[in-house]
Amino acid sequence: MGKLTNKVAVITGASKGIGAAIARAFAAEGAAVVVNYAAGREGADKVVKEIVSAGGRATAVGANVANADEVAVLFEKTKATFGRVDVLVNNAGVYTFAPIEEFTVDMYRRLFDTNVLGMLLCTKAAIPLFPTGGGAIVNVSSIVSTLAPPATAVYSGTKGAVDSITKVLAKELGPRNIRVNAVNPGLVITDGAISAGIAGSDFEKGAVAGTPLGRVARPEDIALPTIFLASDDARHITGETIYISGGSGI
Ligand SMILES: NC(=O)c1ccc[n+]([C@@H]2O[C@H](COP(=O)([O-])OP(=O)(O)OC[C@H]3O[C@@H](n4cnc5c(N)ncnc54)[C@H](OP(=O)(O)O)[C@@H]3O)[C@@H](O)[C@H]2O)c1
Repeated sequence: MGKLTNKVAVITGASKGIGAAIARAFAAEGAAVVVNYAAGREGADKVVKEIVSAGGRATAVGANVANADEVAVLFEKTKATFGRVDVLVNNAGVYTFAPIEEFTVDMYRRLFDTNVLGMLLCTKAAIPLFPTGGGAIVNVSSIVSTLAPPATAVYSGTKGAVDSITKVLAKELGPRNIRVNAVNPGLVITDGAISAGIAGSDFEKGAVAGTPLGRVARPEDIALPTIFLASDDARHITGETIYISGGSGI
């Protein structure tokens, strides 16, 4: 029996990168998975196909997490397909970096709308679908919330908000036995990191040099601790953050 057998999990931003790895890993542990995407339908369909071919259960649902109407549809479709939500992983996120002189209002809106508002909207919409016995929410934050590197004021600000909101909601939802935790990865080589020009850059080399375990992460490295937090193994853990950074920034 898998660690997530009979659980229904919604993974936001699961068409690629960390979210796709979490969706595959959750399904391998027995969860029925909703693979959310914004623009990448092809990627989401591929993840669903891989899960179903391996004998798992999954469906792809498009929704921009920053749009309340689309989020409502995401959870209506989840209810229609799988009946409830036991686990929500708020993973959908975007990142761009700029020194303070160069940040723009558009950048602020895009990052905060996706990384913070999106998490709040999805959490609000998911809560009525949790069974009376409760469940788990895992927010994908980042090591930048505490590392606070230069030229990341907007992105690090979004993840600082994710950390605070994780603790607030752990207290607020504890009485309903909905646990709320976060995973805070260091650098992970994903499609997003490649598009941002990080893979193969001096930034990556610096990150490796500053990592006691001597390498940056793969998406699967983030998925395994996320399974733990979502599973009953973590049944008395809430409001916590697991740093998944190979020791970088500790
Ligand atoms: N990579 C890293 O080094 C790293 C480190 C620490 C934390 N993180 C965090 O990990 C999470 C995933 O990052 P990643 O590197 O895997 O990114 P990625 O490869 O760029 O994938 C991002 C995912 O989020 C989805 N997404 C973006 N905006 C969305 C929206 N408005 N509504 C719904 N889905 C949306 C994308 O969907 P579509 O492609 O379908 O639009 C995609 O599936 C983010 O929260 C990021 O901040 C990443």
